[in-house]
Amino acid sequence: MQRIMVIGAGVMGAGIAQTCAQAGYQVLMTDPDPAALSRAMDQIAAFLAKLESKGQLEQPADKVLARLSIAGDLAGAAGAEMIIEAAPEKLELKREIFAELERLAPAEAILATNTSSIPITTLAQGLARPQRLLGLHFTPPVPLSRLVEVIRHEGTDEEVFQAGLELVRSLGREPLAVRKDVPAFVINRVFAAALSQALELVEQGVASAQEVDMGMRLGYGWTLGPLQTADLVGLDTVLLVMRSFARQGEYKLAGGSALVEEMVRQGRLGRKSGQGFYDYTGAGHKKA
Ligand SMILES: NC(=O)c1ccc[n+]([C@@H]2O[C@H](COP(=O)([O-])OP(=O)(O)OC[C@H]3O[C@@H](n4cnc5c(N)ncnc54)[C@H](O)[C@@H]3O)[C@@H](O)[C@H]2O)c1
Repeated sequence: MQRIMVIGAGVMGAGIAQTCAQAGYQVLMTDPDPAALSRAMDQIAAFLAKLESKGQLEQPADKVLARLSIAGDLAGAAGAEMIIEAAPEKLELKREIFAELERLAPAEAILATNTSSIPITTLAQGLARPQRLLGLHFTPPVPLSRLVEVIRHEGTDEEVFQAGLELVRSLGREPLAVRKDVPAFVINRVFAAALSQALELVEQGVASAQEVDMGMRLGYGWTLGPLQTADLVGLDTVLLVMRSFARQGEYKLAGGSALVEEMVRQGRLGRKSGQGFYDYTGAGHKKA
């Protein structure tokens, strides 16, 4: 496999495109928003320059950049062997994109989605070639992260699943093979369970956010506590994901959402707004 197409040039798409280009693939990154494309290219160039200055790039940055091209539409799918979709987390939008990709891409192309909460099975339902679809769930910041979940739905061809695992290894990442399509897959499912318990403990006044996080860092060796991580992800995003769990009947993973809802109502979105469970406005990011 040599040619990869990445759909969406946002937080995740830009990181995926960069990571694939660094690993030697020819990458085409698409986005209907020209500003998103130019922002992504600037970010990638800056990221590569930083890695190069630290001696952490195997090839000169300009060689990596030369493997990366951009487009405003999906026509380039005709030449792609693997297509990784990282468009916004909206089911209808993703359905439209995959329908168009099936029309444009070669029949043997592999289609992958980076969705974090939509079941792969749901996306496969509308497809003419559902056996060519799998989930490739990258985590941010993608160029530094060491893990990618590879998710099969019931109808994914074994060969496609194996190609997904192989792709991840070729990117220098460890694949986590998810053999059944359950909501939130593996790592987000485990994390969401911990987060919802943490939120309920804070809500009930059993311990403060800082104490719960300190407990998980010192007691279980977590690098960040669950509420620190929620601040990092953004509480608006956390709330969308919790609602998605509730819609799927996964109430255990949605516990504590009232607290998140209230914080979002107050504009406390975590790091992105300067306030969340912690205060990020002062020097040294003092705790709230
Ligand atoms: N942000 C995270 O931490 C994270 C982690 C894992 C998975 N994900 C998933 O990755 C996907 C992308 O998330 P993101 O954070 O990069 O979002 P984002 O909003 O940063 O980027 C999405 C990009 O898609 C573009 N887009 C809109 N319509 C499009 C279309 N029709 N075709 C192609 N591109 C289109 C937008 O212009 C935007 O640039 C979502 O499914 C999300 O759930 C996100």
